[in-house]
Amino acid sequence: MSLVLLFLFLFSIFLLYRSLSSTKPNLPPAPASLPFIGHLHLVDSRTPHRSFHSLSLHYGNPDSSRLILLNLPSPTLVVSTASDAELVLKTHDLAFASRPASFSEAILVNGTGQGVSFSEYGNYWRQSKKFTVVHLLGQKRVFSAPFRAAHAEEVTAMMDHIAANKGEINLSDCFYAYANGVVSHAIAGKENNAQRLRELTDDLSAILANGSLYQLAAEVFPGIGKLITKVSGLDKKFELYNRNWNQFMAEIIEDKKKTANTKEEDFLDVLLRARDDGTAGFDLTENDIIAIVRDITAAATDTTFNTLEWIMYSCLS
Ligand code: HEM
Ligand SMILES: *[C@@H]1O[C@H](CO)[C@@H](O)[C@H](O)[C@H]1NC(C)=O
Ligand SMILES: *[C@@H]1O[C@H](CO)[C@@H](O)[C@H](O)[C@H]1NC(C)=O
Ligand SMILES: *[C@@H]1O[C@H](CO)[C@@H](O)[C@H](O)[C@H]1NC(C)=O
Repeated sequence: MSLVLLFLFLFSIFLLYRSLSSTKPNLPPAPASLPFIGHLHLVDSRTPHRSFHSLSLHYGNPDSSRLILLNLPSPTLVVSTASDAELVLKTHDLAFASRPASFSEAILVNGTGQGVSFSEYGNYWRQSKKFTVVHLLGQKRVFSAPFRAAHAEEVTAMMDHIAANKGEINLSDCFYAYANGVVSHAIAGKENNAQRLRELTDDLSAILANGSLYQLAAEVFPGIGKLITKVSGLDKKFELYNRNWNQFMAEIIEDKKKTANTKEEDFLDVLLRARDDGTAGFDLTENDIIAIVRDITAAATDTTFNTLEWIMYSCLS
C-alpha cells in the first residue's frame, strides 16, 4: 500500500516537474492569426460551422482527428469528429464545463438567476444540471401519459395545419410552431402561453443576432466591453428582455397558485414543489426556476426545429 502511495507521489512530482519545465504546451495547429481579432476574419458569422469545417480540413492534423485551436479572440477548440465530441462532452466534461463569461451573458444572469447554461462548474452547476436531467428530462416524465398526450396534440395541430393548406407551405414555420408548442406545454401545461413564449424566444434570438457585432467588439476589447454594451444599447435590450421574461414567468407562477393542480405536473410545478419542499439538493430560488425554464426553452426550441428541417431536407434530396 505504502509503495503504491510512494509511487503515486513520485509520479505526481514528475508530472508537476514536466508541466513546470515544458515551456511550450502541446496545442492543436492553427492558421496564421492577426493581432486583436485572431482568426475572426476567417469565420463567416452567418455559417460558422462551414468555416470551421473547411479550416479543420485545411489545417487540422489528419492523424489526430483534425482538431484546431482558433482565437475568436478567446481560445476556441474546434472539434470535428463524434469521438472527439464524446471526449469533450462526456469523458472530460468537467474540464470543459465552464464557459468564458461574455458581457451579454452577465446581463442575462444578473437579471434573473444562473440557470443551467451559464453557471460555472461547481456545486450549483452540478445540482442544477442533475435536477434538470433527473426530474425534468428523465424517461419517466418524458414518457408519462400527459406529456405524450401534449406531444400528440401538437403533432396533430401541425398535420391539420399542413392538410388545410392547399398551396405551398413553409415547413420551417410549421416546425418552429410545433417545437414551441411542445416546449410551452411541457413547461407550463397551458397552450395559451405558447404565443407569448414564442415572442420572447424570438426577442432573445433577435437581440443576440442583432447585437452580435457589438458583443464581438466587447469580447475583443474587454477593457471597454461594458462601455460598448452600454453605448450600443445592448444592455437596455437585455434588461428589457429580462424584465419581460421575469414578468411572464411571475404571471404563470401566480396563476398556478390560484388554480388547484389536478393534472400531472409540468416543469414549473416540479420546480416549485422542489423549492417548497426543499428537496432540490441546492438553494433553489424563484429566480433560479425562472432561469432554468429560460434555458430549457432556448435549449429545446431551435435544436428541435433545426433537426426537423434537416430531416426533411435529407428526405427530399
Ligand atoms: C435535436 C435536438 C437537440 C439537440 C441536437 C441538443 C443538443 C444539445 C447539446 C450538444 C448540449 C450540450 C451543450 C453544452 O454542454 O455545451 C445540450 C444541452 C442541453 N439540452 Fe439539448 N439538444 C436537443 C434538444 C433538447 C430538448 C428538446 C431539451 C429540453 C426539453 C434540451 C435541453 C437541454 C438542456 C437543459 C441542456 C443543458 C444546458 C446547457 O448545458 O446549456 N435539449 N443539448
Ligand atoms: C446587476 O443588476 C443590478 C440591479 O438590477 C445593477 O445595479 C447592476 O449594475 C447589474 N450588474 C451588471 C454587471 O449588469
Ligand atoms: C419560411 O419561414 C422561415 C422562418 O420563419 C423564414 O426564415 C423563411 O424565409 C421562410 N421561407 C419562405 C420561402 O418564405
Ligand atoms: C433587429 O434588426 C432588425 C433590422 O435591422 C429590426 O427590424 C429589429 O427591430 C431589430 N430587433 C431588435 C430586437 O433589436
